[in-house]
This record gives sequence, structure tokens and C-alpha cells, in this order.
Amino acid sequence: MTTKAIDGDIRDISLAAEGALRIEWAEREMPVVRQIRERFAREKPLNNLRITACLHVTSETANLALALRDGGADVVLCASNPLSTQDAVAAALATEGIVTYAINGEDNDTYYKHINSALDHKPHITLDDGADLVATLHSSRTELLDGMLAGCEETTTGVIRLKSLAESGKLKYPIIAVNDADTKHYFDNRYGTGQSTLDGITRATNVLWAGKNVVVCGYGWCGKGVALRAKGMGAHTIVTEVDPIRALEAAMDGHSVMTMAEASKIGDIFVTLTGGLKAIDRAHIEVMKTGAIVANSGHFNVEIDIDALEDLSDSKRSVRPFVEEYRMLDGRTISLLGEGRLINLAAAEGHPSAVMDMSFANQALVIEYLSQTGHTLGPQVYPVPKDIDIEVGRLKLESMGITIDSLTQEQEKYLASWEVGT
Ligand SMILES: NC(=O)c1ccc[n+]([C@@H]2O[C@H](COP(=O)([O-])OP(=O)(O)OC[C@H]3O[C@@H](n4cnc5c(N)ncnc54)[C@H](O)[C@@H]3O)[C@@H](O)[C@H]2O)c1
Repeated sequence: MTTKAIDGDIRDISLAAEGALRIEWAEREMPVVRQIRERFAREKPLNNLRITACLHVTSETANLALALRDGGADVVLCASNPLSTQDAVAAALATEGIVTYAINGEDNDTYYKHINSALDHKPHITLDDGADLVATLHSSRTELLDGMLAGCEETTTGVIRLKSLAESGKLKYPIIAVNDADTKHYFDNRYGTGQSTLDGITRATNVLWAGKNVVVCGYGWCGKGVALRAKGMGAHTIVTEVDPIRALEAAMDGHSVMTMAEASKIGDIFVTLTGGLKAIDRAHIEVMKTGAIVANSGHFNVEIDIDALEDLSDSKRSVRPFVEEYRMLDGRTISLLGEGRLINLAAAEGHPSAVMDMSFANQALVIEYLSQTGHTLGPQVYPVPKDIDIEVGRLKLESMGITIDSLTQEQEKYLASWEVGT
């Protein structure tokens, strides 16, 4: 253990008591992680492992970090987004002995300074949300690569970046794509992002959803959740897509589907969830109605062309926390929420704990698996082992008091055979 010299960097240690209450509150909705934490505390499967985690520093992440610590790991945490840190939670973690580098509102330089400080911990395992740790390790901190055992990645955008690194032959250690577990993206991306994105926009603006034209850019797992929840609030939902199958799915789920060029003329609220670049670009901003509200819930703040918004406006003012109103050169106003960063984490609290329970149960079990098998894996991006995925689903169902049927031997035989036809 080599962390004694590292002190961390948080806003205010006196917030620790408030943070501890938040962590405790989240834990009530995280029975699967709690169960894993109790087992880890008994069995200590992570003894002598150094873990650096770059995650949204929230009360749910705190529960994961504590489970890893109780499993015997030496855990250091830094933020995976400058606006998502809950300062009270960071303070509580610091008092729990988890060295934390995260301050809500930190600038870009501080963000990367924190990542580098967390890497000074010389991890065996990295835990990323968006792949900024891995990207830093593979660019400016290559001296640490030799000591790496393995890593895992939480989100779609991170997995895309890692696969690209692996395809170019430059990935130096094995990573498991936790995002791709069924018990992660079916629930976290869809129901978690669905609810919390509307929560973030509502908290920031207090807007009434009923009757509004809500444009959802990208109908992936996250977009489906946001569109579904917005529709449930009485909005007229419009989906823009580039994938014909997902567009078709949106149309058959009852949403209007059109190009962004069309949607931008009629939208009242825009939410981007594409994981890509400039889903809302200059031409779209040029034709938006006055009063339009624009937000992003995809991983990086590049989905809205903020430079074009700046360029097409002559002034801006902060009208409420997380609401920047731009006065356009032609007199219209357009409001950008949360600087275009993940609005559910910037203006609300991120995903509800109950859904993070599954995502982080996957993380904890995958880290345990990697601690045993990491040295046998080559430098590629791997899926979550199916038995871990199923175990997380089973434990979650059990915690919800739901029992399901199982196949009889006769049914299993039937399903495994080709002989029986009409
Ligand atoms: N806000 C959160 O808390 C949260 C949680 C999970 C994932 N994410 C992030 O949200 C983003 C989306 O994740 P996902 O799991 O839904 O990904 P996904 O790959 O399932 O879906 C993305 C969709 O966007 C579409 N798309 C791409 N470019 C487009 C464009 N220019 N216009 C319209 N559609 C376009 C794709 O065809 C795809 O259907 C990622 O960046 C992911 O990391 C955020």
C-alpha cells in the first residue's frame, strides 16, 4: 500500500457528515452492492490490489468504492466529469480513507491534474467512466503501463474509445466493457438516463413537459429512455437518428421521426444522447425557435456545437443555475443547460441508486474476476462474463422479492433439439 503520502483534493472536509448521510441513503436502494460488500469484507478477495477509479463522484459511486475497500483494495478516486462531483460525498470518502481528487466545477486543468494524481497511486486496476484514465495512461503516463493488470469501463463512449485503441493495436492491458452487460445498459442507460435526464432539465428550468415538442437526438439505450419518459410526461416526442433500424424502432414506439434540420424548427426542448459530435450544429441552431432549451446527456460536451452558439449570439447571461441564455444576433434567445455537459449529473444527482446498484455490482464482480484472471488475458476489450451478468440480474430480482419460473428438463431438452417440428 503506497497511498499514505497522497492526500487527495476535495472542496471541504466539513461536508463529510452530510456526505455520509447521502451515502447511507443511496445504500438503501443498493442491496446487491451491499451484499457484495458484506461478502468482500469477509473474504477480502482484493487484498494487495491498488485500484484507481475515475467515476462520477456520487453517493452511488461511494458505495462501490467502499465495497472495493472492504474487499481489501487500496482505492483512489477522481472525477470523470468536472460538474458531476457531489462535494459532500467526496468529503465523506476522504474521511473513510479513500483518497479522492474531485471538486465540483473544477476547470479542465484541475480535472487532468486530478487524473494524474490518482494515477500516481500506480494502480493495478483502472476503473473508468469515459476512458479518460486509460487515455491518459496510454499518452502521457506510459511509464505506469508495465504495472497494469487490467481495467473496466462503465459507459458507451468509453467502450467506443477503447475499442478504437485496441483496433489500432495500441491498447496495452485487458479491459472489460461493463457497459455492455445486459444488467448495465438495459437498465442504467435506459431507465437511469431516462429518469435522471428529465430530472436534471426539470430542476434546472422547472419547465412543464406536457404539450412541449421534445427532440431526442439519438435513439440508443439512453435516447429510448429519455423519449419514453418525456412521452409519459405528455410531451410530443420527436426522434432524430442516423441508424435506419433505430429510427424505425422509434417510429413504431410512437415517436415522430424526422431529420434534425426539420426537428430544429419545431423543438421546444432538445436533448442529445448520441455519444457523437455536433448532433446539433450551426445550421440547426440558426433555425431554432426563440426560447428553445438545449441540453446534452451524452458523455462529452461535444454533441452541441457550443462554439456556433457563441458565434451566432451577441451576449449571454446566467438566468438560473445551469441555465445560460444566449441572445442571438437576430434577437432570438436560446438556453443552453449545464454548459452542454451531462445534464442529469450536472443539474440533478445522476442515476437513481437502484439502477446504479446493478451497474456497480457488475463493476465489483468484474474487478474480483480480473484480480484472478487479469494476468491471463491479452490486451483487448472483453465482454462481462455471462455468469456475472446473470448473477447480478438474479440478485437484483431476489432483492425486489420477485421469483421467476425455471425450465423443466423436458422444456430444456425441447429447446436444445432440432428434431421436433410442426
Ligand atoms: N447521462 C448519463 O448518465 C449517461 C449514462 C449512460 C450513457 N451515457 C452516454 O450517452 C451516450 C449514448 O449512449 P447509448 O448507450 O444510448 O449509446 P447507443 O450507441 O446505444 O446510442 C447512440 C445512438 O445515437 C445515434 N446517433 C449517432 N450520431 C447521431 C446523430 N448525429 N444524430 C442522431 N443520432 C445519432 C446512433 O445511431 C445510436 O442509435 C454515450 O455518450 C454514453 O456514454 C450517458
